[in-house]
Amino acid sequence: MPRKLAAGNWKMNGDGASLAEIDALLQAHPAPGIDILICPPATLIERMVRRIAGGAIAVGGQTCHTAASGAHTGDISASMLAEAGASHVILGHSERRADHGESDGTIRAQAEAALAAGLRTIICVGETEAERDADVTLEVVGGQLAGSVPDGVTAGTLTVAYEPVWAIGTGRVPTTDQIAQVHDAIRAQLVDRFGDAGAEMAILYGGSVKPGNAAEIFAVANVDGALVGGASLKAADFSGIITALEGA
Ligand code: 13P
Repeated sequence: MPRKLAAGNWKMNGDGASLAEIDALLQAHPAPGIDILICPPATLIERMVRRIAGGAIAVGGQTCHTAASGAHTGDISASMLAEAGASHVILGHSERRADHGESDGTIRAQAEAALAAGLRTIICVGETEAERDADVTLEVVGGQLAGSVPDGVTAGTLTVAYEPVWAIGTGRVPTTDQIAQVHDAIRAQLVDRFGDAGAEMAILYGGSVKPGNAAEIFAVANVDGALVGGASLKAADFSGIITALEGA
């Protein structure tokens, strides 16, 4: 069975005062039955790691450059994230694909850089609303997965996050049948490419996951956790999602 993961993506939100949410999470989940990850803005990674002080919450970045260092103003390398204390990095989020024109090839190269720096990768895929309406969801997601995931990954170094673009930050969630269809297709593709390891890789659902809908989503086959945006910013909300995943 894949390891279960509740991952929070703070996006461009949070400041030093937000670290109090981490204290509350640690207090609520001193010995969680699942893996917990928070990906704050890069400026908070080192402070967050210190604040967690060996507790059961991992910290990750939200993207990294393809190069280890160099003349890339404003960017951050995988080894910089690792040195700050990050263990994971989210790659290919739809907001990066849209805002920064990241292609599958770029994301694959970022993932290779992340693996070289010893980071675990969470690679995001997902269709737009127009693509779902045109009934090409599985082709789009399958193409992103094939193009973005590098060779040589294991269940320890790759987690896939299925995030339908139209469900992010909108309060709209696919039906459980729709989630199942895509997660089953991702699982089949991972097993086809990586064999037994593909059966152990966690597949997260992301897009408007809240404490109130988490249990229903986690009951779907091949849903091994969630990548949570808005509801990861407040410990009380994220805690409800963690508890739902522990009970799934
Ligand atoms: P929301 O949970 O705010 O919909 O965001 C999902 C997401 O994009 C996580 O990466």
